[in-house]
Amino acid sequence: MIKTRITEKFGIKYPIISAPMGPFYTTQLAIAVSEAGGLGVISHANLQGKNSILDFKDQIDTVIEATDKPFGFNIRVARMQTDHRILLRKVGQWRKENPKIREQMIYGLTSAGGPRVAAKLWQKTCPEMYHFHVAPALWLADKVVESGCNGIVATGTEGGGHQSYEGITTLVLVQEITQKYPDMLNVACGGIATPEGIAAALAMGADAVAMGTRFIASKESEFHPNYKALIPPATDNDTMITTGGFGPIRLIKNNFCLEHGGIMTKEEKITYEKSLLNIENLKDDFHKYEIVYTEGDVENGAVPVGQSCGLIDSVLNVDEIVSGFTKKAEEILKKCSNIS
Ligand SMILES: Cc1cc2nc3c(=O)[nH]c(=O)nc-3n(C[C@H](O)[C@H](O)[C@H](O)COP(=O)(O)O)c2cc1C
Repeated sequence: MIKTRITEKFGIKYPIISAPMGPFYTTQLAIAVSEAGGLGVISHANLQGKNSILDFKDQIDTVIEATDKPFGFNIRVARMQTDHRILLRKVGQWRKENPKIREQMIYGLTSAGGPRVAAKLWQKTCPEMYHFHVAPALWLADKVVESGCNGIVATGTEGGGHQSYEGITTLVLVQEITQKYPDMLNVACGGIATPEGIAAALAMGADAVAMGTRFIASKESEFHPNYKALIPPATDNDTMITTGGFGPIRLIKNNFCLEHGGIMTKEEKITYEKSLLNIENLKDDFHKYEIVYTEGDVENGAVPVGQSCGLIDSVLNVDEIVSGFTKKAEEILKKCSNIS
């Protein structure tokens, strides 16, 4: 049985975390992952025209009703994400008001901005909750450590969804972080979708892995059937990085992606972001996600998928991914250690 610092501290059976995938919902997925012995994570899914604060709380209530197991959540702390400061404060309030939330909601992951504001606040309002922040490059991991977070999610450029300008691979990033910060908890993320990938990440010193694309193609995830169906036939060359509201974003190559243009520099990105401050442009950008989750329009909408789609050939049960893959990863690690 694989034990890591994260399985021990979080009280979970397997070192497997579901990656947040807003603006899509991952509430049912989070329940399934936590029930299977991993750590399920609720996404910041607020682009759907609802009251985002109430919607977030509804998701938490849905999870605590369905399972007694630990789980986590994500808040995107980007400038463009105007609800993030309220949400950061609400987390402390909800934990204080409800012992079940306090006991189970043990992991808060911030991303898409700096970790400092959340770290400062949560050290006061929820010091016993594990605060991790996404770092796509070593200099950003430095900031996570300086802010006093409990851990880093080392997310390489292979991954689906938003990316950094640096384009560092998970392979290099995880090693950089474990070498520089051996005492820091760290989760490897991006491009992991197989038992081999899990074994490799643990061998590099990660305490757990987080997977997004692999979990989209799971029976329990609430992604549109057209979205799930895209992944098994996709090859590693079927995604590309293009322009997203929060920065470069890895999407499946489709009409939207090919028309949208690739961002090359930070300056171009800032100009693009400024154009989104025009509410009509912003609505148009959100609409490209909306048509994916409401209509399953995976040809014309924005469809985040990682290069790991090339490793996935079927839609599996969450349990097969969480416990099945970890058991196979353990066999792989044992086999490696038998080499004389
Ligand atoms: C559909 C989708 C939506 C995503 N949305 C978010 C998000 O809201 N917040 C975030 O921190 N990361 C987001 N990501 C990135 C994932 O959390 C994770 O880094 C990525 O899926 C890892 O790569 P993988 O897909 O190869 O497993 C998203 C990824 C996908 C595929």
